[in-house]
Amino acid sequence: MPDAVRLAIVGAGGIAQLHIGGYEKLRTAGYDRFVITAVCDVSADSAHQTADTIEEALGERPRVFESVEEMVEAEEADAADICLPHAYHHTAGIACLHGGMHVLIEKPVGITIEATHRLLEARGDRDLIIAGAEQVRRYIGPRTIEWAVNSQQVIGTPRFFTQEVFSKNHMDRSEYKWAWRSLKMLGGGGMLLDAGAHFSDMVQHVFGPAKTAICMMRTLDETIINLPDVEQQPVDVEDYWTATIIFDSGVIGHWAWSQHAAGRKLSTRMYYGTDGSLADRQEWMHPFQHGADLILDGGCEVPYEELEAQYLASLSEEEAHRLFPYGITDAFAIECWDFVEAITRGREPEFGTEEALQAKALCFALYESAHLDGQPVAVEDVKTGKLSSYQDPINEYWGI
Ligand SMILES: NC(=O)c1ccc[n+]([C@@H]2O[C@H](COP(=O)([O-])OP(=O)(O)OC[C@H]3O[C@@H](n4cnc5c(N)ncnc54)[C@H](O)[C@@H]3O)[C@@H](O)[C@H]2O)c1
Repeated sequence: MPDAVRLAIVGAGGIAQLHIGGYEKLRTAGYDRFVITAVCDVSADSAHQTADTIEEALGERPRVFESVEEMVEAEEADAADICLPHAYHHTAGIACLHGGMHVLIEKPVGITIEATHRLLEARGDRDLIIAGAEQVRRYIGPRTIEWAVNSQQVIGTPRFFTQEVFSKNHMDRSEYKWAWRSLKMLGGGGMLLDAGAHFSDMVQHVFGPAKTAICMMRTLDETIINLPDVEQQPVDVEDYWTATIIFDSGVIGHWAWSQHAAGRKLSTRMYYGTDGSLADRQEWMHPFQHGADLILDGGCEVPYEELEAQYLASLSEEEAHRLFPYGITDAFAIECWDFVEAITRGREPEFGTEEALQAKALCFALYESAHLDGQPVAVEDVKTGKLSSYQDPINEYWGI
């Protein structure tokens, strides 16, 4: 591997810009083990605009491609940072892996469980990195709360939690970024798999693996979606769900969400243990991203800032550098750094395919349960592929 990893940005939409911001922070901090040499998007305009952004941010102008296959053929990069709609994670990822490239793939790392297995097969036994772009657990807030719950037992033994957010938000589904998120064949599901992949990862990161999933969901929006690659049709993904998650540890979680709640908004995010509770400071599906306040049994309150200060003081110099390289706390920069370090040092990434499969297994277990009218589903059965009735049509559609 050359000193600097040659990177390709594949998919030049919304999230790619945050990844580029992460690479810029790394370069500013003096980290020079990467260079962005390619950008690929089916939209030539988006690809060229993103090449401009990269040139401005990093001083290097990447070569522009409009097809992943052409980009792989050109051997312009050693590794791909894949920021595509879910349906193309595996197609682009497999093409890159076959071309000998390492891949960092946005969540949920493939449109179905099988799609992730196809990526693993494409890697075979070669020393290629497949990393998941899951940034939430890398923010200082989630790192602090995971430490506080598991190393410090600040709430005692965790028992149950509830995360219910109902609001009325308009999603303009005529915009490409919302249109592909409206169809099962392109998104794999709706927000439960999209932003919900972060929630699913974070609650399992803190409370351990989920065992059983029970879920009901509804599609309330009837907008007609018109996109290439799929037939014109109304929205067919969930925009309301209510779920119960039972963890191996015995913790029980309730998770409900909708953006079609007329009238009054509801937002409850509380995590309870034998000795106290944590009140999450933010309501999007990124648990603890802005920290959580501790309320002990008896009423004593510990603001999040105190927990964070204690957590930071507990880290050795080596840990601090591994978790917040160069003192950087931007989670996108940290995930990009972790990917490049995994490649150059030949080590595992912090969030690899096992972590991605565990996170998406819980999401898909909830879909499988809803597909069975709310029957309880074993998360392990979904992870191993034993139960896949909800996902089968997607796998058939894409030949996965
Ligand atoms: N980590 C996060 O917080 C976060 C936030 C938003 C999105 N995401 C993830 O990032 C990924 C992309 O989401 P987004 O919001 O950037 O989407 P987007 O719609 O903004 O961008 C997708 C881009 O991919 C391009 N594209 C589509 N098909 C292509 C193909 N076959 N080949 C090349 N280019 C193609 C589109 O032209 C578009 O520019 C998804 O996996 C999504 O879940 C993650």
